[in-house]
Amino acid sequence: MNKTAIIIGASSGIGQEVAKLLLADGWRLGIAARREEPLMELKAKAPESVEVMTIDVTKLDAGERLQSLIERLGGMDLYFHASGIGKQNRALKEDIELGTMETNAVGFTRMIGAAYRYFAEKGEGHIAAITSIAGTKGLGPAPAYSATKALQATYIQALEQQAHQRGLKIRFTDIRPGFVDTALLNDDFPYPMLMRPEKVARDIVRSIYHHRHVRVIDCRYRILTFFWRLIPRWIWRRMKL
Ligand SMILES: NC(=O)c1ccc[n+]([C@@H]2O[C@H](COP(=O)([O-])OP(=O)(O)OC[C@H]3O[C@@H](n4cnc5c(N)ncnc54)[C@H](OP(=O)(O)O)[C@@H]3O)[C@@H](O)[C@H]2O)c1
Repeated sequence: MNKTAIIIGASSGIGQEVAKLLLADGWRLGIAARREEPLMELKAKAPESVEVMTIDVTKLDAGERLQSLIERLGGMDLYFHASGIGKQNRALKEDIELGTMETNAVGFTRMIGAAYRYFAEKGEGHIAAITSIAGTKGLGPAPAYSATKALQATYIQALEQQAHQRGLKIRFTDIRPGFVDTALLNDDFPYPMLMRPEKVARDIVRSIYHHRHVRVIDCRYRILTFFWRLIPRWIWRRMKL
């Protein structure tokens, strides 16, 4: 197999682990994020198979930079979106709320849109994105994070319907992990049911290969989110998270 994938958010955490697995499986990769150094370290593992580009999804030129990366790679079969930020923000600090919206909502829409238009032109492709179980319900401790994760999931669902109705062969995989031990959770809060990024990445790659539409990781979180959805609003607002 010599397929090509672009991973935005490959400089750390889950995106980096997915990149390692795809490389080991023989994929050629275009990897991007804001920090160049960890991307270059990843490239050093397989220089012939990896192209690097710094991309900040909040910047207006991010779509063009994705296009240049696709050209350098010689095409794209899979677009994998792992970029994201998130913080608990009970004080509702404006910079945190709006910064989260910029990256997870505006940046996400910019990049997924650029990938979608590329695949629409090409005639086929696969878009996979890490959203979160945090989008299942509005979470009081992290309002912008949970709201943007719900937006991401809804956006993917909308594009999936649009692609189907336009007869485009674009596949979509919405990946919703529970808590994963990465830099995103660096606030010393004792997160329960914490998963290793390596394990989550293996599940993600399997889900992409099996063309899953939605994958909640892992089974404990599948049960949890099933019950979350059943909780009526008048109980949900009283729940301490
Ligand atoms: N950790 C969890 O518990 C958890 C649970 C569910 C879902 N998720 C989601 O999983 C995804 C990956 O997060 P992670 O846990 O692996 O955390 P992470 O290690 O902090 O990774 C986040 C990635 O996003 C990139 N990024 C952040 N802002 C960016 C920007 N403006 N432009 C381009 N890239 C940007 C970062 O790279 P640079 O800083 O180099 O730009 C980094 O590569 C996120 O979408 C997160 O919401 C995480």
